Amino acid sequence: MIATDQPIDIRMTTASRIQEVDWSNLGFGRVFSDHMCVIRYENGKWHTPGIEPYGPLHFSPAISALHYGQAIFEGLKAYRNEHNEVYIFRPDMNARRLNHSARRMCMPELPEEVFLDTLKALVHLDRNWVPGSPGSALYIRPHMFATDEYVGVRPSESYLFVIFTCPVDRYYTGEVKVKIETHYSRAVRGGTGEAKAAGNYGAALLPARIGQQEGYNQLLWTDAISHEFIEESGTMNVMFRSGNTLFTPMITDSILSGVTRDSVLTLAREWGMVVEERRVRADELVGMISNGELDEAFGAGTAATIAPIRTIHYQGTDYSLPPSSGWTFCNRLSSYLDRLRHGLEPDTRGWNLRIA
Ligand code: COI
Repeated sequence: MIATDQPIDIRMTTASRIQEVDWSNLGFGRVFSDHMCVIRYENGKWHTPGIEPYGPLHFSPAISALHYGQAIFEGLKAYRNEHNEVYIFRPDMNARRLNHSARRMCMPELPEEVFLDTLKALVHLDRNWVPGSPGSALYIRPHMFATDEYVGVRPSESYLFVIFTCPVDRYYTGEVKVKIETHYSRAVRGGTGEAKAAGNYGAALLPARIGQQEGYNQLLWTDAISHEFIEESGTMNVMFRSGNTLFTPMITDSILSGVTRDSVLTLAREWGMVVEERRVRADELVGMISNGELDEAFGAGTAATIAPIRTIHYQGTDYSLPPSSGWTFCNRLSSYLDRLRHGLEPDTRGWNLRIA
């Protein structure tokens, strides 16, 4: 067992399900590994972390998470390479962002060292669940929700923090088609868009389904006031390349600050590109595609990884870029990040946490 500073009560499964897994057909988010971590918050403090067999949790139908939406989550991944080493990519960023979300949703912060130590212990215990085939990973889903059995509207006084993990394939296979959404909104200034709050995703389901029925994988959200400025896509931040310039919507309180977004911008700067974090107008973007000035468009996210966006729909018209096989930045980025996350590039930035 790797060393952790937290005392953790570990109750191991007596019936591993690992032999039942069809590793050639993982999909995304349907297969769950043997254990989960659970930490209870009560009486103003976090209690001893526990690791137990993955399975249902029991609570009252009156818990406040179900009624008033105090529920936040994170997403990160562990990777295995051909030397059988397992790495988690930038977990400190997720520990920090969870607490950013917690503050916005009036929930208790979890000490970062507790987040990291329980995460390490859980992934170490279920290390055989980390897949090694190209594009696959162990997706890690930490989340926190309110558990007071109380129907009045006020911040809950009790919470559960839970981490489960899923061996997964890529979220998107191939190029993505997106629609610029100009009617519905994901987030408004002063709202909760900057938090990884469950309700943000629930509110996006109907517009996303309408977009999917029209033939688009995802929406490109715009600002809620004018619908003229690009914000992010449903499961990822978005970026655009024109020549040596990479540009992306700047972070505001209606945009989630992605870990993959940060990694891409860091690499682009190191590789000598001009990086612009700024307001991006929807009409500027499609105008650039029409004029042949936009070279690449892609989403960046933990689940999505680097997802090339080939077609962008705006106000009744599809605007398409040339095939992504020729996109030099996107392809360099994908293969570099892939090698780095598998511990096959020198980790000069300290982004990889080695687990096994
Ligand atoms: C992630 O990329 O980790 C996400 O949370 C996006 C999505 C699967 C909800």
